[in-house]
Amino acid sequence: MNNIYQTAKIKSVEIETPKVKNFILDSSIRAEPGQYVMIWLPGFNEKPFGIVKPSPLMLSIAKIGPTTEIIHKLKVGDKVTFRGPYGQSFKIKSGKILLIGGGYGVVPLYFLASSISPEKRKNITVVIGARTKKELPFVTKFKKLGCKVLVTTDDGSAGFKGFTTQLTEDLLNRKKFKAVYSCGPMIMMKKIAQLSHTKKIFCQVSLESFFKCGGFGICGECCVNGLIVCKEGPIFEGKVLL
Ligand code: FES
Repeated sequence: MNNIYQTAKIKSVEIETPKVKNFILDSSIRAEPGQYVMIWLPGFNEKPFGIVKPSPLMLSIAKIGPTTEIIHKLKVGDKVTFRGPYGQSFKIKSGKILLIGGGYGVVPLYFLASSISPEKRKNITVVIGARTKKELPFVTKFKKLGCKVLVTTDDGSAGFKGFTTQLTEDLLNRKKFKAVYSCGPMIMMKKIAQLSHTKKIFCQVSLESFFKCGGFGICGECCVNGLIVCKEGPIFEGKVLL
């Protein structure tokens, strides 16, 4: 854990989807898949963001509120102040694994997949879901890593028409996986946790919450089901959602 604020310049900005931008900074940190950093906008707010890559540090930010609107206006050369990394990381099992990301929830799952050696990434199946084809993030990135990628859209504009949970249920009925990792809407992760529990498969989820003290575990703002998400999480075993 690093509580010292660091300032880095934005080296490049990628448009991932109409709502999501990737910011690559001229800074590197030591972090594990699943961990996050706190970005500080002086005089305004401080928010947690999952790490896509630690070196150079890459963050993927969806425009979902006032803080992220300000971040989305930042350009190459602008400065970002952050502290971290914080939180617990994924316990990565060897063998066939299944990653399920709802929308920009794929961020920590991408870090997980990229931390696995290239020759073993063929054992990774990724299910990415979004409302429409345009909103599907990281599909090309996961394919470039060598993972098998399946997509779902609510409107059927790409891949399976329906929810990630439906596709996941089908996959778990047909194939054997050593572990399941999921990040996205709570309702999706609950269903994934239930499916994994029924099949007796190791499952971890990345919980999202409102953070205030972010990483210190002292304010209680982030508690979900009595769990201190900023410190004990954000990665938990799926059974906490059962
Ligand atoms: S944000 Fe303060 S305890 Fe988690």
